[in-house]
Amino acid sequence: MRFASAMAVAALALAAAGCERKPAAPGPSPARAPTPSATAEAAGDSILIGHVASLTGDQATYGVSSDNGIKLAIAELNAKGGVKGRRLALRTYDDEGIPEKAAAAATRLAVHDQVAVLLGEVASSRSLAMAAIADGTGVPMISTASTHPRVTRDRGRTRPYVFRVCFVDPFQGAVMAKFAREHLRLAKVAVLRDVGNDYSVGLADFFVARFEELGGTIVSDQGFKAGDRDFQVQLTAIASTRPQMIYVPAYYADVALIGRQARELGIGVPLAGGDGWDSDRLFEIARGALDGSYFTDHYTHENPAPLVQRFVQRYREAYGAVPDAAAALGYDAARVAADAMSRAPDLSGPALREAIGKTKDFPGVTGRISLDASHDAVKPAVVIGIERNVGRYLTTVEP
Ligand code: PHE
Repeated sequence: MRFASAMAVAALALAAAGCERKPAAPGPSPARAPTPSATAEAAGDSILIGHVASLTGDQATYGVSSDNGIKLAIAELNAKGGVKGRRLALRTYDDEGIPEKAAAAATRLAVHDQVAVLLGEVASSRSLAMAAIADGTGVPMISTASTHPRVTRDRGRTRPYVFRVCFVDPFQGAVMAKFAREHLRLAKVAVLRDVGNDYSVGLADFFVARFEELGGTIVSDQGFKAGDRDFQVQLTAIASTRPQMIYVPAYYADVALIGRQARELGIGVPLAGGDGWDSDRLFEIARGALDGSYFTDHYTHENPAPLVQRFVQRYREAYGAVPDAAAALGYDAARVAADAMSRAPDLSGPALREAIGKTKDFPGVTGRISLDASHDAVKPAVVIGIERNVGRYLTTVEP
């Protein structure tokens, strides 16, 4: 039984992904390039959704998870008849984790492929690179997981065509600051941030501001660059200030190495971080070095709510893995997009943008999704604790 339904979901997922090859959706060949006046709707009977993701590179689990979540959502929606009586089709381009490639992929999807909506990216630096293209082309974009405030805001003004289904970093940073100060009762914390990463710099700043507001002291604030392999200098400087915790708001591959080198240097205090820690690769690389550490996240697969457990089971059947936050947010973003499409009078950019902006109390697996005037979702965060190289749900923090 399980096997049969696993095959069914996998087949549906493949069918959804395979739709991009149908002549209904114009392919990359210039001979097939749609006329400038053609809309995504007119391009055939299926509705084309674009996705920009890091399917390869140092942050590959983000892109692969996000893509899997989106494919599962589309398979389920198509099994129920699609949207407006039309099937949904997905076209994903790999940006290899590079912002410039994310911008190029978004341009191609919006201008050449004429997608109805752009989904992605997970990483803030890449969503920031895509955002101007969504606004410039008038194709609505829903960032699945990017938490930097500027993703939806440009010079103090809300970007008209850019939305996200996740919470933002001023909140995420405050959650860990409060947890460290009030739950763990820590007074002295060090920070180690990725200075070339918008998300890392922003989240570190928001954590520091709130931790100090709550009466704590930041004893050291060090930087590194993604891809660095040796963190001895920074960790030694940090150790000399005797912090009770080290806040490392970075991506999983770097965090895992930092955790291992900290233990090698005899630093036994917990590390802490944010959603960027959420990847199976974190644990594979860390091999126990992060036991006793904590991170904030968007969701937990341990949530017993039927909606979440159904999602976890179907995802497992289709991909043989427990969905992480990037997968859950990809799934939610695709379903929010489809919900807006079904409410919109037509699938033009302006109509769809209106409908997305009106999303209210949408039942996501990452929580109820209501988009505010800033195009951000106001949602709770969870705190995960790592024990025996496994992340376990600890608590939920409301906005
Ligand atoms: N929030 C991170 C960013 O903005 C990306 C991320 C989200 C990574 C969820 C993992 C899981 O860059």
